[in-house]
Amino acid sequence: MAKKEIRIKIYPDSKIASKIFAESLVDEINEILNKKKYCLISLPTGNTPIDLFNEIIELYKKKKITFKNIYFFNLDEFYPISKDDAQSYNYYLYEKLFSHIDMPKKNISMLNGTLKEKDITSHCLSFENKIEKLGGLDIQVLGIGQNGHIGFNEPGSLRDSITRKVKISDNSLSIISSEFKDNVKVPREALTMGVKTILSCDKIFLLAWGKNKSTIIEKTIKSKITKNIPATYLKTHNDVTFILDKHSSLKI
Ligand code: GLP
Repeated sequence: MAKKEIRIKIYPDSKIASKIFAESLVDEINEILNKKKYCLISLPTGNTPIDLFNEIIELYKKKKITFKNIYFFNLDEFYPISKDDAQSYNYYLYEKLFSHIDMPKKNISMLNGTLKEKDITSHCLSFENKIEKLGGLDIQVLGIGQNGHIGFNEPGSLRDSITRKVKISDNSLSIISSEFKDNVKVPREALTMGVKTILSCDKIFLLAWGKNKSTIIEKTIKSKITKNIPATYLKTHNDVTFILDKHSSLKI
């Protein structure tokens, strides 16, 4: 696996970073749409992209972007979980983004946490096939877990992994549990785009804010490529940018 350079951009705080990144993301998408009919994007969930989504919505309101020709593929989802569960990533994305913009529902492909076990493999394969049929992902935005997971590709995930059901690590479970409301139990499994799926994307951005992410950002940047820190696989891609604030970049 050849090692490539990761571009790093550091901003004073996450609000400024999100604003500047939203503007450049919208420019990138519009450039892609000048060249081809559709743009395929994937955005993360969690706390990290909340300001980004608000900025994107503002840019949409200012008519800087329309989502009519944008296809969205979601990065991960708990399993099992209902789509209407307020903790699901499905619910989160509709609440925080889709219900505020003009992306047609038919353009939105969500990993489905409500399926029966026996239907998961074919669901994941058709998710992969859909991306391929539409010409591949153009832009992937990622968050990062404190153990280096990207999507729900937890430590141990292979470089060649594709969209599949995975076990959530104890480390991630304990962090997510503290964020689940009303002591609701966090599902122990998830569906996630694979490492290979993520790396097949043309351009990748990873966002990380706050001191809690400084150790994993340091490890990701300084460590060799290893399955123990799935984010290090990003070093095998030739167009990756880390968008950091002064806290997450403290140790690099
Ligand atoms: C979650 C999700 C990831 C997300 C990451 C960081 O568990 N599986 O998709 O990017 O962990 O979450 P946060 O932004 O809340 O720190």
